[in-house]
Amino acid sequence: MKVLVFLLLVAAASAKVFDRCELARAMKANGLAGYHGISLANWVCLAKHESNYNTNALNRNTDGSTDYGIFQINNRWWCSNGSFHSANGCGISCSALLSDNISQAAQCAKTIVRQQGITAWVAWRRYCRGHDVSSYTAGCGV
Ligand SMILES: *[C@@H]1O[C@H](CO)[C@@H](O)[C@H](O)[C@H]1NC(C)=O
Ligand SMILES: *[C@@H]1O[C@H](CO)[C@@H](O)[C@H](O)[C@H]1NC(C)=O
Repeated sequence: MKVLVFLLLVAAASAKVFDRCELARAMKANGLAGYHGISLANWVCLAKHESNYNTNALNRNTDGSTDYGIFQINNRWWCSNGSFHSANGCGISCSALLSDNISQAAQCAKTIVRQQGITAWVAWRRYCRGHDVSSYTAGCGV
């Protein structure tokens, strides 16, 4: 229990809510702009509606799995939290997805989009697909 509390504190300490343009720049620096044909504005739109730009976002799904971080990546398939059986397709610890450094989360998002496409994200399908998403990077100089 002490270990768990410690880990949660570490995660909380590194939590960060990005500003829209700050996130657009961080995503670009991590190679997401145009990755797999997905524009930067679509990635920012996805993050807005998955996590509201919060790297510490944690949400439990009805199947008992948990979604982590800015891209709300699922622990049944993509990361391991140590206590829940996972395919761990990204080969990472779920806590890495909560870091204020989005590098590992961005790498994992690339793995997901290569394997399943952007439609893997429900929020993208619902709020970004077929919409004019240009406002998500407007005025960011990216
Ligand atoms: C790991 O994920 C499972 C399933 O979502 C959850 O029940 C459990 O509390 C998590 N464990 C930790 C240490 O976060
Ligand atoms: C973020 O993490 C990556 C690798 O995990 C590292 O290469 C990079 O320098 C880090 N960026 C910052 C700003 O700390």
